Amino acid sequence: MSIFRKKTIDDILKERGNKTFNPTMKTLDLILFGIGAIVGGGILVLTGIAASKAGPAVMFSFLIAGIACILAALCYAEMSSAVPSSGSTYAYAYVSIGEFIAHNVGWVLIGGYLLTAATVANGWSRYFISLLSGLGINIPEEFTKLPSAGGYGNIPSLILVILITFILSKGTTSSKITNNILAAVKIGIVVLFVVVGAFYVEPANLTNNFAPSGINGVMVGATAVFFAYLGFDAISTSAEETINPQKVMPRAIIITLLLCTAFYIVVCLVLTGMVPYTKLGIGNALSFALTEVGQVKAAGLISLGAVIGLMAGVLSFIFAGVRITYTMARDGLLPESLTATNKHKVPGKLTWGLGILTAIFSGFLPLDQLAELANVAAIISFALVSYATLKLRKTEPNAHRGFKVPAINFVAPLSVVLFVGLLWSVTATTWLILVVWTIVGSIVYFGYSKNNSKLKQ
Ligand code: ALA
Repeated sequence: MSIFRKKTIDDILKERGNKTFNPTMKTLDLILFGIGAIVGGGILVLTGIAASKAGPAVMFSFLIAGIACILAALCYAEMSSAVPSSGSTYAYAYVSIGEFIAHNVGWVLIGGYLLTAATVANGWSRYFISLLSGLGINIPEEFTKLPSAGGYGNIPSLILVILITFILSKGTTSSKITNNILAAVKIGIVVLFVVVGAFYVEPANLTNNFAPSGINGVMVGATAVFFAYLGFDAISTSAEETINPQKVMPRAIIITLLLCTAFYIVVCLVLTGMVPYTKLGIGNALSFALTEVGQVKAAGLISLGAVIGLMAGVLSFIFAGVRITYTMARDGLLPESLTATNKHKVPGKLTWGLGILTAIFSGFLPLDQLAELANVAAIISFALVSYATLKLRKTEPNAHRGFKVPAINFVAPLSVVLFVGLLWSVTATTWLILVVWTIVGSIVYFGYSKNNSKLKQ
């Protein structure tokens, strides 16, 4: 049946040969891009909140979420080395499962990436507003509150997204440099926190009540901090801008995720060692803990770094959303006019269209809803890639793979089970939004994509 028609790996490699994008990225660029995407609102905003519930055992929440993501990351590493397409999960589903599922996955992913960008922008605005108020500049409340709370919307967040979209529209070289700088700032503040904070760790804070809510608290924490890992998959959307992706992609994905998991666990250890976990239920726990131990200057630097560094997350996720949409349009599943590139070799119209949509999400939707939707979109895509990796091993056993997941028959199913498990705590509102979004996607598929698909022609 035509809705199950598939692309071949050769099709993907031929597209890559057309060189729509300019391959300039190497391993280090990808790692910095990955860290730019991954380290952000999760560790800076959610850690304290999760620690206030799970206690010092929050480090196990990060470990569990990290292990689940590492399983999926191994699958991403294999798929991106066999199918080096900017379409990422969408392209993997296209070669292994078929067009209709691929279209809907792409559709969910686009929404997911834009929502993640919007969530990070929203978290950024909190640090920005508090930093300004620390300097004595107070933005009138109506410019920061949602219309439902009597304001005009989150205007700082909205302006940030527009600014980042402008940078993205100027091409990968300029966005790469900007991103590398922003990612370095983020690594810098996390290292600063650990190095300064380590001197103030009181072992009693860790041992007095290590896991106050037991395993349940740790698991609830794991679902909450899952957001902190989103972004390793976004690395695979730069496959077409990467030099030698078969080798570089898997390496970059795995190194990035291991680095982030290690970072996060050390941050949790220091944070919950510095102050009793009961004080940490706030959005800016890292700078709060430093202030508590009298390191006010370091705390100020962390807030400043967060304001600068969180911008990288917004940039990476809009970038990823644009790449997926672009690939779908190139395949004829969305209007081809969206692929028109500007003089910087960037799909300019598309970048602006998605950037404006993200700005609207971040300016007018509540943070927790944004984050949950982003989490669900990622969970679906991680589970699907794990399944697709296993399936492609069966359907294309001889395809060239720069990396192979060890014990795939065990790793891929385990990964699917873990992610499906994470879906149980999702709220009804989020399911409803997701179902409506998927129905719209299916209407687009049957109304447009099915007949315009390049595979049909
Ligand atoms: N992992 C990204 C963050 O925590 C989404 O901001």
